[in-house]
Amino acid sequence: MSYIDETMLDVTEYRVLGKLPDPFLFDDGTRVDSREAWTKRRAEIYRSAIELQYGTMPPAPEVFHVEALYVPGRGKRNVYRITAGTKERTVSFRMCLHRPTKEQEQVLDGKKPPVIVDGDLCFEYAMDRAFLDTALNEGIQWALFDRTELANDVQHEGRRKGPLYEVYPEYTFGALGAWAWGYSRCVDALALLGLSDMSCVAFTGHSRGGKTAALAGAIDERAAIVNPNETCAGACGCYRVHMKASYLGREEGRSETLADLLRNFGFWMGPELPAYAEREEELPFDAHFLKAMVAPRTLFVSEAAGDIWANPVGSYLTTEAAGEVFRFLGAEDHLRWYFRPGVHYHHVDDVQMLVNIICMKTRGAKADERFFRLPFGTPEPIRDWVAPKA
Ligand code: GCU
Repeated sequence: MSYIDETMLDVTEYRVLGKLPDPFLFDDGTRVDSREAWTKRRAEIYRSAIELQYGTMPPAPEVFHVEALYVPGRGKRNVYRITAGTKERTVSFRMCLHRPTKEQEQVLDGKKPPVIVDGDLCFEYAMDRAFLDTALNEGIQWALFDRTELANDVQHEGRRKGPLYEVYPEYTFGALGAWAWGYSRCVDALALLGLSDMSCVAFTGHSRGGKTAALAGAIDERAAIVNPNETCAGACGCYRVHMKASYLGREEGRSETLADLLRNFGFWMGPELPAYAEREEELPFDAHFLKAMVAPRTLFVSEAAGDIWANPVGSYLTTEAAGEVFRFLGAEDHLRWYFRPGVHYHHVDDVQMLVNIICMKTRGAKADERFFRLPFGTPEPIRDWVAPKA
């Protein structure tokens, strides 16, 4: 077991473009003063953290069905076809439900298995046996789908290529919005199939898939646990923090900026966001708004110490800021972060930590000691507000 220590990442340059906006402050200048008021403010935050960032989201479908294609049962990968959309037009995609064996399910004491939803079936790691077994061995299912069946992920191909845009032409979502919709349709399907513990649904994904998991989990409250892994800019990395660093004495790298993201992958995002390139300090939100939308459910932000493009310091600072909302809602224990030694990847270690959180929730497991460590000295918060007194 390897531990992170604060000397691992040498931060050589660190620019803060502005303080983090106060998530408790309503647009009319009044401030949240109760749980009910937070629910209203959360709805207001949706406008900036979701619609301004990712576009208007595809709605819940009018037409929905699930067809079994190959269902060998426990201990196997079971394949379903999900079809969803409007009365005029639908889209179909596959969901692969990996089910633990009867022996692996013994730890559940007769309860249905928790389930991890992950849209990264287009990535190689999602096929990796050790990756899958980390959860299956603890009696946890995987519901995997390939998000690119909903919207293409081809750089420089232009905006809105892929079938979901044809189903919902009147909404402005980019690829991340389309992919996030897939997470929610998998939850619909899992609820219908009745094979999983629907009180313990976790969303995860890596990098662009992590941005997707964060977006899907912020919106869909059926996700009890939301685990974006190394998302870079556009979810957990902070737009207002730019950093350079060297990891374990290696060559210096820098964090991804809003301008980088828009230049290379603008089609992932919503059409209003480009107005803020090079003007990040004017954004009415930052990553802590999206993170706070998960509260009081569980948010687990996993990063890698050497993933400098993902903005480790900015990710930590916005998680820390979102922590005020978790605290306000009495859910401080539901916010965790983990920095893994190493570079950009969805690693078995990351899954192990997610599995630990699932086991804590479902069967009182002890928390892993590796949570909350930082690979750099603890930076000063970049906010001039705290949670209101509840
Ligand atoms: C690029 C991009 C990131 C993204 C990553 C990935 O590095 O700049 O925003 O997260 O690709 O998805 O692997």
